[in-house]
Amino acid sequence: MSRGKFLRKIAREVLGDEKARKIWGRIEIIGDIAVIRVPFDMDPEELIPLAEKIIKELPYVKSVWAGLPGVEGPYRLRKYVHLAGEKRSETIYKEHGCLFKVDITKVYVSPTLNYEHKRIAQQVKPGEIVVNMFAGAGFFSIIAAKYSKPKIVHSIDINPYAHKYMVINIKLNKVEDIVKPYLGDAAKIVERQLVNTCDRVLMPYPELALSYLKYALKALRSGKGYIHVYLHIDAEKGENPLTIGEKQLINELEALGVRKIDILNKRIVRTIGPRKYQVVIDSYVEQ
Ligand SMILES: C[S@@+](CC[C@H](N)C(=O)[O-])C[C@H]1O[C@@H](n2cnc3c(N)ncnc32)[C@H](O)[C@@H]1O
Repeated sequence: MSRGKFLRKIAREVLGDEKARKIWGRIEIIGDIAVIRVPFDMDPEELIPLAEKIIKELPYVKSVWAGLPGVEGPYRLRKYVHLAGEKRSETIYKEHGCLFKVDITKVYVSPTLNYEHKRIAQQVKPGEIVVNMFAGAGFFSIIAAKYSKPKIVHSIDINPYAHKYMVINIKLNKVEDIVKPYLGDAAKIVERQLVNTCDRVLMPYPELALSYLKYALKALRSGKGYIHVYLHIDAEKGENPLTIGEKQLINELEALGVRKIDILNKRIVRTIGPRKYQVVIDSYVEQ
């Protein structure tokens, strides 16, 4: 039985059909920690019997936490409540053959981005200089470094814990020659150190992506290159979030004086609420 089906089965046994339907798709396994993302209308304590069952039935899970709704603040952190097993929030998580040490309460981690991490890595070309403006614990940067042989990936985050784990993860994956960690505001680091240096810019932080586009453009060598922008889009019924996202990006780039904009690809990364989507737009620009 697949892990998903097994989690659905035990959620049904412990919570009954109705609650299990809300819950089973919200269980994420990060290393040896299970996180149950709690829906708005449920109390985390209701999930303790399920957490205990997960510890009993899945021997590789050592700790279970409830992730409360919503990520908060500039570091994009969720609040967690411990439910069962060891009271430990640090773990080593494996993605695409790379290892990531993380503390789920101190750095942003989302297994949902797994596909995006690899998809972006596959677009990076050997020898490129890349800047990841919002790198977290280093997922995009390290997977790209491992799979696509860029020359350098400048990897920036403003959260001191994200920087700490990024440094650890760079060593764990032996990509010290490629991934350069920076602690600070991406705007300031680009302006001070990375103007006119890069071929590709990753912007995996929807809340700042449009307002930081001017710094992404400054980072591009000779004003040309690839930009991957993640956005949150509200779409009314019948509207296509990808069309709205593309328009927002083009309007912003045009306002910044970009004369050539090729939209290479766009996709919905995930649904984040009623008619609210995270989308990614891959573009090539020349100023
Ligand atoms: C959505 S998370 C990044 C996800 C990460 N790239 C991944 O793959 O898991 C956004 C990150 O941007 C960082 N951040 C927020 N404001 C920033 C800024 N002004 N400069 C650099 N990093 C920033 C946060 O600390 C957080 O780690």
